[in-house]
Amino acid sequence: MKICMFGLLTCVLVLFLQHQGVETRHGHGSRLLKETFHPRYEETILSSLPYGNTSTIFNVLAFGAKGDGTTDDTKAFEAAWLAACKLEASTMIVPNGSVFLIKPISFSGRNCESNIIFQLDGKIIAPKRSGSWKSGLLQWLEFRKLNGITICGTGVIDGQGAGWWSKSSGTKPTAVRFYGSSNVTVTGITIQNSQQTHLKFDNCQSVQVFDVTISSPGDSPNTDGIHLQNSQDVTINSTRLACGDDCVSIQTGCSGINIHNVDCGPGHGISIGSLGKHNTKACVSNITVRDTMIHDTENGVRIKTWQGGYGSVQGVTFSNIQVSNVEIPIIIEEYYCDGGKCQNKGSSVDVSDISYQNIKGTYTKTPIRFACSESTPCTDVNLDTIQLQPVAAVVRGVQRKAAVVMGLQPDAAEPLLEQPGKEGWAGCVEQRLENAAGTGCSAG
Ligand SMILES: *[C@@H]1O[C@H](CO)[C@@H](O)[C@H](O)[C@H]1NC(C)=O
Ligand SMILES: *[C@@H]1O[C@H](CO)[C@@H](O)[C@H](O)[C@H]1NC(C)=O
Ligand SMILES: *[C@@H]1O[C@H](CO)[C@@H](O)[C@H](O)[C@H]1NC(C)=O
Ligand SMILES: *[C@@H]1O[C@H](CO)[C@@H](O)[C@H](O)[C@H]1NC(C)=O
Ligand SMILES: *[C@@H]1O[C@H](CO)[C@@H](O)[C@H](O)[C@H]1NC(C)=O
Repeated sequence: MKICMFGLLTCVLVLFLQHQGVETRHGHGSRLLKETFHPRYEETILSSLPYGNTSTIFNVLAFGAKGDGTTDDTKAFEAAWLAACKLEASTMIVPNGSVFLIKPISFSGRNCESNIIFQLDGKIIAPKRSGSWKSGLLQWLEFRKLNGITICGTGVIDGQGAGWWSKSSGTKPTAVRFYGSSNVTVTGITIQNSQQTHLKFDNCQSVQVFDVTISSPGDSPNTDGIHLQNSQDVTINSTRLACGDDCVSIQTGCSGINIHNVDCGPGHGISIGSLGKHNTKACVSNITVRDTMIHDTENGVRIKTWQGGYGSVQGVTFSNIQVSNVEIPIIIEEYYCDGGKCQNKGSSVDVSDISYQNIKGTYTKTPIRFACSESTPCTDVNLDTIQLQPVAAVVRGVQRKAAVVMGLQPDAAEPLLEQPGKEGWAGCVEQRLENAAGTGCSAG
């Protein structure tokens, strides 16, 4: 990974210089090291480089975070971020063994250096729904306008969303939202019990999500797994998504989206749309979903558009999808209507060049549903090797209930996926080391 390569290069260089500087000037650097971890020292960090024994690692505990699960640690996180933000390829650490209560916060990059690593090994929890939430808040944890940002580790982000799930209307926050960022990596972590969507990318370029677990109950409303909007060049792989709404939702402005080796369920499947609501234009292109398991969901792979919209969905491939206990595995719906009355407006977003290859498994309602617009019919839709069988009616009720309640996979078919691995803290470091070999930076 290029991001981490830069990280190590800088890191090694800095340590080398630091070592020299400290040896000659202080003999011992341990006192200085302690001081540089102190939040007050954030201002001196830059000026002391490269002569002091400064570090590019900022542990939230050193910035006053308690990590006891009840103290509000928001200010400590803000201070640690502020320090990390000032150094290229720095690392902010949220350590293992602690639980940090964090209020809505923005890790904003307006003046931040690039390639920052947010290493999450501990647990971050949100305040439960209460007065501490301003109304209309779009997200809980925001990463904004960053170039080169990695969240990695074995840690957990828990939205404690149950209090929001019973609330039927109004804005509910997304747990983790990236906005206007490029070269984004999210790996290793778990995001669970979100207030609403778990992980959102809006206006982002070059995003990689892998070895991530997303988890909330199958009956938690609107808890999308990953939501993509106006984003390009996104890969999601080796990820488990169990939630109460779409496992992955692909919205307008997305292209070059590659989803593979994902396990989805319970949830509502992998969905493009809904698009074209309120007569708007929507464009989505170059989407690939392959080598994926979808189980105990309402839908499998779905494209949904509203009547009255315009624009296009173009170049979509769904291949090697194993479905199990899915209500409707394959759907194109150009008359999407989310409650209320919707009129047939005679137009919809154009859907073309859609390919389904090797989709196999069991369904509970209908194997395939294509509801294409009368005036702008779907074109160039190809189906190749589709084998869908009904789940035996009698067992179905029991299985679905068990699946939703326990997050189990009842008629376990041979999994297409291996267990997504956990890399974590060591993973973050190993990546850097692996890459170091390639750059020859240990020799320099
Ligand atoms: C500098 O910091 C490192 C930790 O990053 C520490 O192990 C070392 O003792 C410090 N002093 C010197 C002289 O390197
Ligand atoms: C985190 O800490 C727990 C105990 O507090 C331990 O069991 C676990 O192995 C640690 N994980 C890592 C990645 O260090
Ligand atoms: C992403 O990172 C690569 C390599 O570090 C860099 O060349 C590229 O410009 C970055 N992309 C953006 C959009 O900044
Ligand atoms: C998932 O993506 C990561 C990062 O690009 C890559 O290292 C890993 O091999 C991929 N896993 C699979 C199963 O393709
Ligand atoms: C879609 O993919 C094709 C072929 O890979 C490429 O030529 C085209 O530029 C891509 N379009 C977008 C919008 O990404």
